[in-house]
Amino acid sequence: MLRRLHPIQPESFAFTPANYVWAQGQITKYPAGRQASAVIPLLWRAQEQEGWLSRPAIEHVANMLGMAYIRVLEVATFYFMFQLQPVGSVAHIQICGTTSCMICGAEELIAVCKELISPKAHALSADGKFSWEEVECMGACANAPMAQIGKDYYEDLTADKLRDLIARFSKGEVPLAGPQNGRYASEPLGGLTSLKDHKGTGAKYNGSVQRAVDIGDTVKRIDGTEVPILTPWLGKAKPATPAVGTAKEPKPGARQVADATGVTVQEAPAQSVGTPEPKVSAKPQGLDAPRDGKADDLKVIVGIGPKLEALCHKLGYFHFDQIAAWTPAEIAWVDDNLEGFRGRVTRDNWVAQARDLMAKK
Ligand code: FES
Repeated sequence: MLRRLHPIQPESFAFTPANYVWAQGQITKYPAGRQASAVIPLLWRAQEQEGWLSRPAIEHVANMLGMAYIRVLEVATFYFMFQLQPVGSVAHIQICGTTSCMICGAEELIAVCKELISPKAHALSADGKFSWEEVECMGACANAPMAQIGKDYYEDLTADKLRDLIARFSKGEVPLAGPQNGRYASEPLGGLTSLKDHKGTGAKYNGSVQRAVDIGDTVKRIDGTEVPILTPWLGKAKPATPAVGTAKEPKPGARQVADATGVTVQEAPAQSVGTPEPKVSAKPQGLDAPRDGKADDLKVIVGIGPKLEALCHKLGYFHFDQIAAWTPAEIAWVDDNLEGFRGRVTRDNWVAQARDLMAKK
């Protein structure tokens, strides 16, 4: 199947405030200059928020990570976990059609989807609540046949059980995920044959189902407010408290700060109820021409090539001392105004490099 962008696209995309804070937290997991490593989690959260990945969402993630749009598009079109067309408002149902599931009845499950949702995969049901597709093995072969519905695995299915699940989802219920035939996990159908005296964890359900029950997880879209957003890897495990209605375009040039361990990280924007966001973007003063007619060779700054150097000149920046003096707000402005290279000042830490060059001079 060709994986292309849908012909009809929304005008724009923005993370909800809580999801934006979450996304910034993900970015801080990676060293400065390696923020692109967060591309899959950010795309996934964008999809969880909207149900599918639109072109504006892909471009938004690219801007946040300082990546070329094509690089993010490559990721989004390569992995089948990313949906490139609108999906059902309640759930997208992915039926595993690989060997174990096929032998155990996947074709009957697909027949139910064709009957209840749509004769064709990736098309919406008449009420817009559901869509479906056949996918390759999802690693739950011991519980075949199975389907992923929304975020969860529903295993040990039969046609009747799938009918029942769809009916219950349609009514707004959230059926318990996991094995649907009474099994705890993937033990033999006839019961345990070994390790019979194993006490287990004492939990009522297996690990993933119990976790979903404990946090009240459901198939509904994630706006980030369902669970506390933590950044324990920074040693600052603080739940996010996003202000309602403070959604804003993220700045690729989010301020670089040192965390408790001294590692340079991107600072998530401060958000608090009732407190207006400080202005974080200001144009640094430029020059009409280089001083004494001689510009510094900006290309010695790692990350600046001839095109970026020309762009800097166009904006009035010719010298290391100009760049070395940029404030966080000015970095944010330049990051936003480097056409085709947004976010590069932060990504490559131009200011620190320029200061080093100044010190060596
Ligand atoms: S074959 Fe269906 S999960 Fe592996």
